[in-house]
Amino acid sequence: MICSILLLIILTSCVSGTFVVNVTQTSYQAEENHDITLEWTFTTNPHSSSNSLNIFCELITDLRSSVLFHLHKGVEVPESQDEQFAGRVQWDKDVLREGRLRLHVSRLRTEDSGLYVCKVFTSYGSNSGRCWLNVTATSPQQPESRGRIGLYCGLGLTAAALLAGCFCIFRHFLSRNQDF
Ligand SMILES: *[C@@H]1O[C@H](CO)[C@@H](O)[C@H](O)[C@H]1NC(C)=O
Ligand SMILES: *[C@@H]1O[C@H](CO)[C@@H](O)[C@H](O)[C@H]1NC(C)=O
Repeated sequence: MICSILLLIILTSCVSGTFVVNVTQTSYQAEENHDITLEWTFTTNPHSSSNSLNIFCELITDLRSSVLFHLHKGVEVPESQDEQFAGRVQWDKDVLREGRLRLHVSRLRTEDSGLYVCKVFTSYGSNSGRCWLNVTATSPQQPESRGRIGLYCGLGLTAAALLAGCFCIFRHFLSRNQDF
């Protein structure tokens, strides 16, 4: 009886000592062309080596899913990465041992918006964590209005220069008239 209770406790602790994958933030908000760092944390095991670690991260949208990061036996597999993310994803190798997966995504596009799911597989368990990213477009009117402000500034300066020039000539004439 005691033996079976002990066995049950051992078994449940094995199961409930579960492997978890958390996200540090459930949703991110960013602007187009900006950079962002998405972070997942997972249970570590001091007895397990990093080459038993497999990670698969995908962006899932209404239309499709695209791979942004793939780690196979502790080694990155760039061939798995979707063209959409080519050259735009970097990861922190140093913090992976601490159970932190940090993915830096640069030059964000609006189509990067969606659900990001990372599945982590280890010799002591596997699980997944998800977060949302919303990339908003920068308003296309901005450069135009900046151009207009520049134009108005230029016109204003020209007008000021003309006025100053007129004033100088006027003063010149005044002083000449006074000389006579
Ligand atoms: C995951 O989140 C839970 C609840 O906040 C926390 O207790 C646990 O330590 C976290 N685990 C990891 C590996 O981040
Ligand atoms: C994304 O952000 C914009 C601007 O803040 C907001 O209007 C929109 O509802 C957000 N979309 C999602 C899916 O969260």
